[in-house]
Amino acid sequence: MAELKLPPPNKKQAAFMRAKKKHIGFGGARGGGKSWAVRTKSKLLALNYSGIKILIVRRTYPELINNHINILRGELLGIAIYNTQEKVFRFRNGSTINFMYCQRDSDLDRLQGTEYDVIFLDEATQLTEHQMKTITACVRGVNDFPKRIYYTCNPGGQGHAYIKRIFIDKDYTSKEKAEDYEFIQSLVQDNAALMKSQPDYIEQLEALPPKLREAWLLGKWDVFEGQVFEEWRNDEEHYKDRLWTHVIDPFRIPDAWKIYRGFDWGYSKPFSVGWFAVDHDGRMYRIRELYGCTGTPNEGVKWTPQEIARGIKEIEESDINLKGRFITGIADPSIYEESKGESIGSMMEAEQVYWEKADNTRLAGKMQCHYRLAFDENGIPMFYVFHTCRHFIRCIPNLIYDEHKVEDVDTDMEDHNYDEWRYVMMENPLNPEDIVTKEPVLQDDPLDLAKGKEEQQYDRYNFMKM
Ligand SMILES: Nc1ncnc2c1ncn2[C@@H]1O[C@H](COP(=O)(O)OP(=O)(O)O)[C@@H](O)[C@H]1O
Ligand SMILES: [Mg+2]
Repeated sequence: MAELKLPPPNKKQAAFMRAKKKHIGFGGARGGGKSWAVRTKSKLLALNYSGIKILIVRRTYPELINNHINILRGELLGIAIYNTQEKVFRFRNGSTINFMYCQRDSDLDRLQGTEYDVIFLDEATQLTEHQMKTITACVRGVNDFPKRIYYTCNPGGQGHAYIKRIFIDKDYTSKEKAEDYEFIQSLVQDNAALMKSQPDYIEQLEALPPKLREAWLLGKWDVFEGQVFEEWRNDEEHYKDRLWTHVIDPFRIPDAWKIYRGFDWGYSKPFSVGWFAVDHDGRMYRIRELYGCTGTPNEGVKWTPQEIARGIKEIEESDINLKGRFITGIADPSIYEESKGESIGSMMEAEQVYWEKADNTRLAGKMQCHYRLAFDENGIPMFYVFHTCRHFIRCIPNLIYDEHKVEDVDTDMEDHNYDEWRYVMMENPLNPEDIVTKEPVLQDDPLDLAKGKEEQQYDRYNFMKM
């Protein structure tokens, strides 16, 4: 009988092998021995628990073949039999290791209610949150086998924000239990085998562009390659003085400021309404939002146009910053599309909610958003968001570039509030020559000279703060 030979795991891999929580995160960087750990742990589980059902997931089929299937075929020779058609290894003890790729949502259809005891999502950040949740919902069954989900991950990719939330920020919703989650960071330096066989690998990582290097070599999760709005800052310590942050405390909007309302229609995907105020310097503030999302990200609440219009009216009649104001509505021009019967726009007009057609030029709109986010030399941008606009604050930093149209935002992401924001920004375009971009300068200020300046700067709005 063939014998399974296992080289020893490194320290981090050993911690991964021992982990017992329901959700186990592993990685953080390139070359940390993640795929090796996935293969090894799945073999050990299969041999240890007769009849266990394991699933290994990667985004694409070629990645599955190269990183897992071909290697396992060699390693499991005489131990398990591989069925190419069904993509499954069958062990003599009845255990199985299945494989699945998930490049798009339609690939999820192949799950068809299958149950697994343990699922490995290799390079989980390359999957969307929706894909991860749909796949991992298949971890169930009435046997005594462990029920676990292993996620290996590098910063970046469509699932970056979700993985960062559950494993790095550990910021859980009321339905998630902190004690179910465990993260083991593994950097390339932890992979002794690779350090020995390819000592120049670190040099290759060091030669990468700065953002990729920070992510792949140091495992940093804050800024990542492919993020569209890298300049986005949400600094709670500065919600009051509004310096070097886009998110700020709400305040009472002076009556003379103009108000806009942006709209992006959605039914099975979320719709998004945002209200914006413009001060006398042309600076814009996102002051309120209505976002049609179920608890699940990027899933729409399926409100009709009339229901949305009524929701808008309700807010405009009750919010002290909107009540009694003249509000200019700007919406995606496609809401006036009449090819399928009465347009969404006209259904909303029947409820006295009116829209002008937005300029939907995508790249120009995106540039306007960048100009608005740029900080001047004092740390003041031309665009702020009230911290109450939770969905906007959640979605904007997550947007990534499209794989094919590399200059534009990936529209598979949750980009609805981005669209509606972009429409309103295009209505009030800034001239690029007027923008001074500055990085935050971190320097000592022993005499507190800057402090006096900040207070002076914002004195005039203090009386309006709510
Ligand atoms: N404990 C180990 N013993 C022997 N080789 C290992 C070990 N861990 C990782 N390796 C090897 O190091 C290389 C990188 O590991 P891999 O798992 O592919 O990294 P990652 O998936 O994190 O990018 C691979 O060639 C892998 O086989
Ligand atoms: Mg790998």
